[in-house]
Amino acid sequence: KHIEVLVFGSAIIDFICYTPRLPKPGETLHGHRFQTGYGGKGANQCVAAARQGSRTALVAKLGADSFGIDYLKHLQAESVDVQHVQQLEDQTTGVAQIGVSDGGENNIIIVVGANKCLKSCDVAAADSLFQEAKVLVCQLETPIEATLTALKAFKGTSIVNAAPAMENTPSELLSLASIFCVNESEAALMTKVPRIETVEEAQVATTELIRMGANTVIITLGKLGAVLGWKSKPGVFEHVKAPFVPPEKVVDTTGAGDAFIGALAHNLARHTDKKLTEQVAAACAVASQSVQMPGTQSSFPRA
Ligand code: RIB
Ligand code: NA
Repeated sequence: KHIEVLVFGSAIIDFICYTPRLPKPGETLHGHRFQTGYGGKGANQCVAAARQGSRTALVAKLGADSFGIDYLKHLQAESVDVQHVQQLEDQTTGVAQIGVSDGGENNIIIVVGANKCLKSCDVAAADSLFQEAKVLVCQLETPIEATLTALKAFKGTSIVNAAPAMENTPSELLSLASIFCVNESEAALMTKVPRIETVEEAQVATTELIRMGANTVIITLGKLGAVLGWKSKPGVFEHVKAPFVPPEKVVDTTGAGDAFIGALAHNLARHTDKKLTEQVAAACAVASQSVQMPGTQSSFPRA
């Protein structure tokens, strides 16, 4: 059976400290719980799609260390095709140090390690996957040259999740993607729209991302849902609301964006009869479930 969703990107081990609040610079705090988890935006998005029922494959790099061995086993247990997930002898598996406050806020430091060795030649090596997949998903935790090569090689529907955001994003990254998706803070950084807290501000940023080269834009707005815009329909926007989650039920928003992207990819591959707004609504519902459980992949629902 053919692969539906192909993810070209990162895999990282998460070290999560749960703490009453996030520390200030120079401050040491007592946290109340520690957990390791399988993370990295690429693998997160892939597992999110797999749990929705898509046949998925990941192209990624791990270290030849115990984290890499564990991660490979984990992906196999999630039914992800790992033929092109490679452990590199001289590299460490990527790690993320994550703080999560009681309010569900987080901050993250990533050291990508082996992920920085994902190269353009890995696209050619995985050519059969690029030919058969319906949807390709990329992010920005791996080198952008390889991502651009992947986007050029792929003929189906591609999603670029420009996260974590970079300043001076090459316009090719926007124009090569069928769908360009960022959250409010990434959109603000890219467009220089000072803050994006409302649907109207997201519409301004959407117009700017289209001017910068994007075809279809999705800006995710957390509990406000998402705003959509199209190059072919200037000035037309759609606002998709997210299901209401009571604040006391929000325990960890880490990876919610990845749950959204993975579920969106699944819907684009599997539910081709649905409109994009309906596919986005389904993805918002999956993300809303993920914020009610701790961790990244550990919080992604199964359909
Ligand atoms: O988007 C969440 C992810 O970002 C985490 O799993 C962490 O690994 C970082 O890459
Ligand atoms: Na979560």
